[in-house]
Amino acid sequence: MATVLRSLYCLIILYVSNSPLAFSQKENQFAYHGFSQANDLHLGGIAEIHPNGLLQLTNLSKQQVGSAFHRFPLNFNTTSSGATSSLSFSTTFVFAMVPQEPHNGGHGIAFAITPSMDFTHAEAAQYLGLFNNSNDGLDGHRIFAIELDSVLSLDVKDIDDNHVGVDVNYNLTSIQSAHATYFSEKEGRNISLELISGNPMQLWIDYDEAEKLVNVTLAPARMSKPNRPLLSTPTDLSQIILGPMYVGFTSATGTVVSDHYILGWSFNRSGQAQSFDVSSLPRLPPRRERKEKPGVMTIISLIAAAVVLVTIIGAAYIIRRKKYEEIREDWEREYGPHRFSYKNLYKATKGFKDEQLLGAGGFGKVYRGVISSSNLQIAVKKVSHDSKQGMKEFVAEIISLGRLRHRNLVQLLGYCRRRGELLLVYDYMPNGSLDKFLYSNGRPSLDWLTRFRIIRGVASGLLYLHEEWEQVVLHRDIKASNVLLDAEFNGLARLCE
Ligand SMILES: *[C@@H]1O[C@H](CO)[C@@H](O)[C@H](O)[C@H]1NC(C)=O
Ligand SMILES: *[C@@H]1O[C@H](CO)[C@@H](O)[C@H](O)[C@H]1NC(C)=O
Ligand SMILES: *[C@@H]1O[C@H](CO)[C@@H](O)[C@H](O)[C@H]1NC(C)=O
Ligand SMILES: *[C@@H]1O[C@H](CO)[C@@H](O)[C@H](O)[C@H]1NC(C)=O
Ligand SMILES: *[C@@H]1O[C@H](CO)[C@@H](O)[C@H](O)[C@H]1NC(C)=O
Ligand SMILES: *[C@@H]1O[C@H](CO)[C@@H](O)[C@H](O)[C@H]1NC(C)=O
Ligand SMILES: *[C@@H]1O[C@H](CO)[C@@H](O)[C@H](O)[C@H]1NC(C)=O
Repeated sequence: MATVLRSLYCLIILYVSNSPLAFSQKENQFAYHGFSQANDLHLGGIAEIHPNGLLQLTNLSKQQVGSAFHRFPLNFNTTSSGATSSLSFSTTFVFAMVPQEPHNGGHGIAFAITPSMDFTHAEAAQYLGLFNNSNDGLDGHRIFAIELDSVLSLDVKDIDDNHVGVDVNYNLTSIQSAHATYFSEKEGRNISLELISGNPMQLWIDYDEAEKLVNVTLAPARMSKPNRPLLSTPTDLSQIILGPMYVGFTSATGTVVSDHYILGWSFNRSGQAQSFDVSSLPRLPPRRERKEKPGVMTIISLIAAAVVLVTIIGAAYIIRRKKYEEIREDWEREYGPHRFSYKNLYKATKGFKDEQLLGAGGFGKVYRGVISSSNLQIAVKKVSHDSKQGMKEFVAEIISLGRLRHRNLVQLLGYCRRRGELLLVYDYMPNGSLDKFLYSNGRPSLDWLTRFRIIRGVASGLLYLHEEWEQVVLHRDIKASNVLLDAEFNGLARLCE
């Protein structure tokens, strides 16, 4: 598969089928405080339950999907008699999205209610393990969804890369969405939350059939439910949720990845869903941070070591500051997530060693690297620049190009600036450029099927640039050395300056 950069999503989905499925009255409510006893959970994709009861939907593998559903369908049949014929429901769950590296993760979790638990045709990335490219937008997929989405996907008209959306339609285009915030009574204002902060958060979804209103409320997990919902969306679900429905979660990663977890979940059709005492829920695995464990030392040697260390660190600090020095200006603050630190790039490329060199040309040198905290493979292009002038516009242009998302375009992940130098960070393409295969001996020559795939990939990338993105972008230098090949030999156009 070729690659796309997006981040996190979270959805609740309601879907319909007519198959007559048995259901039991008591299945109209349930609560999972952790999932270790959850025999009535149906897992799909790479989802798994940790021994401590933590439900993990996806891990750090790219382009994966994972799902977990309550095994027994709920009957949403209003024509049948019985206390639970109402479509009203209330559900809440505690989730955590732990990105591969801070502020950079994807694609998302979905809480879903569907007529089927079969997601074999669903795709990863922006399709959230729920749809695929061909059935997103198809009539007949009656869906009610709440998405928690931290990736800006223009094809589904996302508002930003950190929002909650209500999808009451046949596709993943939200009818209403809002930047992820919660209302603080104490402070009398909305407080922003970062979905991929890695911290547990709780989401409440309440649908009232009489009011025809769905309320969605978000808060950090340690807080009780805020008084004001984040979204209060008028919608009539009577044509959407009919008959037996399954409830659960789907989740997906893309080229950027996150661990997606569910810590606890309750669902209720007879009243408010139980909230959680977060301290009793399963714990998340320790954060991926390098921790130096102190060895066994005597106090004296500790003190001696400390004195020596302080001296060395002091000296090293001054040297390192110079070594990793970069230029940061105030206007760059808004590009925060796209800004890589020089130190990380230096380490990733082993100090820009020659053995890491992927290529060199008029534009500068390109190095291969691996961000050690996340194992993300990158290509770093070093471009020299002298003038400060125009830098602001240039960086804005770069960030704007970074928003181009197509599986046949090499993703620009971000940048870094130093004196006299600009560093551009791209996804790493393992197979190098096409010209190497066409002109150099020693490599296996490409068969016609592969050639066709490469040509199609390039054409598809160009069509996107020319006609499908919000602005028309002209590549102006399409040649074999600017076509990169991913692991499966899909052609990817490299953007030029
Ligand atoms: C993710 O889970 C799958 C299935 O359990 C496993 O094969 C894969 O190695 C895992 N990836 C990572 C990065 O842990
Ligand atoms: C998309 O999903 C539908 C089922 O919902 C399936 O019939 C179809 O083959 C899938 N398409 C692709 C390209 O996977
Ligand atoms: C998605 O659903 C919305 C609302 O139902 C509809 O207006 C829009 O046309 C649909 N988009 C696609 C691609 O089908
Ligand atoms: C949704 O929120 C509104 C505004 O706070 C409130 O009036 C209404 O009762 C809520 N409905 C449900 C189903 O929670
Ligand atoms: C808080 O957010 C809600 C929902 O997005 C919005 O309706 C409201 O106007 C915001 N309130 C303030 C004080 O910003
Ligand atoms: C709803 O229930 C009625 C009566 O029990 C039954 O005839 C009908 O087929 C059911 N409809 C669905 C969609 O399950
Ligand atoms: C469902 O609501 C009823 C009535 O408020 C309450 O007694 C019950 O504990 C709730 N169950 C769950 C699982 O939330």
